Amino acid sequence: MNKKIIVTGGAGYIGSHTVVELVAAGYEPVIIDDFRNSRSWIIDRIAELTGKSPLGYAVDCADEKEVLSVFRNHNDIAGVIHFAAYKAVGESVQKPTMYYQNNIGSLCTVLNAMKETGISNLVFSSSCTVYGQPDKPEVTENTLIQKANSPYGDTKIICERIVESVLASGQNIKGALLRYFNPIGAHPTSKLGELPNGIPNNLVPYITQTAAGLREQLVVNGNDYNTPDGTNIRDYIHVVDLAKAHVKAIEWLERQTKNCCEAFNLGTGKGSSVLEIIHNFEKVNGVKLNYKIGPRRAGDVEQIFANPSKAEKELGWKCQYSVADALKHSWDWEKTL
Ligand code: UD1
Repeated sequence: MNKKIIVTGGAGYIGSHTVVELVAAGYEPVIIDDFRNSRSWIIDRIAELTGKSPLGYAVDCADEKEVLSVFRNHNDIAGVIHFAAYKAVGESVQKPTMYYQNNIGSLCTVLNAMKETGISNLVFSSSCTVYGQPDKPEVTENTLIQKANSPYGDTKIICERIVESVLASGQNIKGALLRYFNPIGAHPTSKLGELPNGIPNNLVPYITQTAAGLREQLVVNGNDYNTPDGTNIRDYIHVVDLAKAHVKAIEWLERQTKNCCEAFNLGTGKGSSVLEIIHNFEKVNGVKLNYKIGPRRAGDVEQIFANPSKAEKELGWKCQYSVADALKHSWDWEKTL
């Protein structure tokens, strides 16, 4: 029998791609997602891609009773991947308590259910936002964790600390804190991809919606930064590569013989500027983007990219897709919407 993995937020952008990779690797995902920020038809797409309907529960991940009952329904769970969380930086500034309550509350609920049912393996979705603006743009897992720029970022720092505190408390836990850089792209079949709510905040969905005519013009948030072309530098990683890292993280946790909590950078190791992304998108897709240079966006980090050596060495994982592949897949997906 396949080993079951509970995937909270399994119908979301990164979650859905991860569910597909889990099935491909021989696991049986059990999805907990109340679809407040995702679509239920994504489950049908996962079934189309994998040939299997995944088990799913429409449950709020902060609901202690319901979550525990899902955990108790299955007695052969090998681990939990906890994606379910709010992720819009700007919204978190407007609604801080909603972010703290949901993101921290749901992690605590999951950790309590794991304790109750004796599950130790946890993969947690963290973010490169924990590094703030680092002194050097290339960051390793030992780079200083800085005060967060937003309540969203703060929830990631706090959640990492919660997992560490639970380990220190003596609960049997093996934790992998995955620090994502900038996930972009879509499934190469165009069956899965990002579904932003309303006007996108993130660069690539804004680009694809502008190319599709849904947005009039893309605004580049400042070109007076201390970078070669003056625009911000980020490490853009294909969502399928990111999804595969979760499978590797589960396998890594299964190999650990002692309780532990380790952070891993998930990025390509290469930074791209906003203008490079725009020009790469135009080139690979043969479309012209209407864009202009605007002012800086408050809270933006000037430049950051991953040193992914630890994930490569310990998880045995490496990115396979290029940024150009990801920009092509994002556009292919947008055209299906
Ligand atoms: C942010 C968060 C990250 C979070 C991610 C997902 C920080 C430091 N980073 O990433 O933790 O996981 O959002 O919500 O808080 N840009 C434009 N025009 C646009 C949109 C974006 O020029 O219309 C620029 C931004 O200024 C930035 C780059 O594109 O330089 C990437 O922006 P975005 O996609 O929003 O991601 P981050 O801010 O890097």
